[in-house]
Amino acid sequence: MQETEVSKADYWAGRYRKGETAWDLGAPCAVFQDALARGLLPFPGEPNQAPHLLTPGCGNGHDPEMFARHGYRVTALDFAPEPLANLRQRIEGEELRLATLCRDVFALTPADLDPVDIVLEYTMYCAIDPRRREEYLAVLAALLRPGAVVAALLFPLGKPQDGPPFAIDPDEYERQWSVHGLRAIHRETPRASHPARAGKELLMILRKTDA
Ligand SMILES: C[S@@+](CC[C@H](N)C(=O)[O-])C[C@H]1O[C@@H](n2cnc3c(N)ncnc32)[C@H](O)[C@@H]1O
Repeated sequence: MQETEVSKADYWAGRYRKGETAWDLGAPCAVFQDALARGLLPFPGEPNQAPHLLTPGCGNGHDPEMFARHGYRVTALDFAPEPLANLRQRIEGEELRLATLCRDVFALTPADLDPVDIVLEYTMYCAIDPRRREEYLAVLAALLRPGAVVAALLFPLGKPQDGPPFAIDPDEYERQWSVHGLRAIHRETPRASHPARAGKELLMILRKTDA
């Protein structure tokens, strides 16, 4: 796979059209559900205090849908229109605070959306050209509110190799965020991983501490 191919929306849109979406668990990620139940993530308080959660590269959007059902204010971003249409169809007519945004994440600016309280990272960092990882985090960092949290389920673990997915070194991921004032406040090998991913992923929660 040419690394430049993965930077094109057409490549991903084509995979959705052909049904080549082996990454799609078909349901919300149990690790994030478990993290929510254990209070590891900021939780919505009063209706007008709902944290704004961004899911970059959300695909069919099972996770943003689940967080919206818990009362979060969600922006579900992807540059392939097909999965966003699937997500909108699933929640049509419901009063969820979920907006879809069809946009290349690298073109995103703080003017495009409200400040973000939580970034949910799953199978996006591993999907982009590894040479663009620092650029990706810089774009996201510019969107964060002081005290914001990044909840990252890092999969697959290892040194970057041919992909997608391009493997992730968690120490490198943490170092790249530290440049933007975020520190890991929680790291664990999740107990609720999908059986096919058990032992191959790591949950890392980072907080922006330079407020
Ligand atoms: C491996 S899939 C994961 C989808 C979803 N997170 C999931 O777990 O089902 C990667 C997703 O990132 C999207 N994506 C890749 N590069 C992107 C970019 N530069 N901007 C926006 N979306 C991107 C793709 O369209 C695809 O839906």
